[in-house]
Amino acid sequence: MKQESQIIATWIDTDIGTHPDNAALLSALESGKVLHIPAMPFELDDQERALLDPIHASKGRKNISLPPDGPTLIGVDPDSPAHAPLHCLVARYARSARDWIDSLFPQYGAHLIAAPTSLRLHRVETRHTSWRKDDSRLHVDAFPSRPNHGERILRVFMNINPHGEPRVWRVGETFESVAQRFLPRLPRQWPGQASLLHALGITKRYRSRYDHIMLSLHDAMKADIAYQQSCPQESIGFAPGAGWICFSDQTSHAVMAGQFMLEQTFFLQPRDMADPRQSPLAVLETLTGRPLI
Ligand code: SIN
Ligand code: FE
Repeated sequence: MKQESQIIATWIDTDIGTHPDNAALLSALESGKVLHIPAMPFELDDQERALLDPIHASKGRKNISLPPDGPTLIGVDPDSPAHAPLHCLVARYARSARDWIDSLFPQYGAHLIAAPTSLRLHRVETRHTSWRKDDSRLHVDAFPSRPNHGERILRVFMNINPHGEPRVWRVGETFESVAQRFLPRLPRQWPGQASLLHALGITKRYRSRYDHIMLSLHDAMKADIAYQQSCPQESIGFAPGAGWICFSDQTSHAVMAGQFMLEQTFFLQPRDMADPRQSPLAVLETLTGRPLI
């Protein structure tokens, strides 16, 4: 394993799944590093490459996505001739991502819960969106409508650009540093807010104190332009064919450039990590001195 930097990446030189030092990889991942795999064992054939065109994505949708238990691909016109082959490609990636994670981190095993798989066809640089949805600003992932009560978000990304273009990310400081910096200025959750959001159907379940803090962190990071420019960070270009894996609720990240990516999300309870003390839940509970779930 080659140590790329303190805050970015641990590079895997060998083929995915045959890494000799699983414990070191796991510890790097759980400490918030991005694991970079320069060549993923996943190839697109010519017919699949021909599907890589934003024209196939339904208007107004950021991603094409496949729910883990759902038979239907979301974000593509069901009558389009591209629908079935796109479905095959995304489902194939979902199976491969599961195999990679199972062989890299067998200790997570049955505890990992598959979440949606996504195919992103739009060019990053020309997407116009609100500051809150602007993923070119450093952030940690948190879902406004899906409170996760401390559950981890593990993501497996792959650049499938057929024109040689890298996907360029910035990776920021550790979760603990982010939390220490922003916690004192986060808004408080007002009494009754969580129940009201749930009753109104805005959140799928009760928004815990943890979820409130994570969303507020996400927003506070993105809203702070000076922080975006001056915080400790590194830039990395993931070449076509490369993959990268991180806990995106922990790793401060931003996407600056690129087009065509596959991504698989998994959920994992903090108790099923090798070291649960590294989870955002544990870090935030230590810093605030109170239970957050
Ligand atoms: C994100 O999760 O913030 C976006 C990552 C990407 O599109 O590369
Ligand atoms: Fe993100």
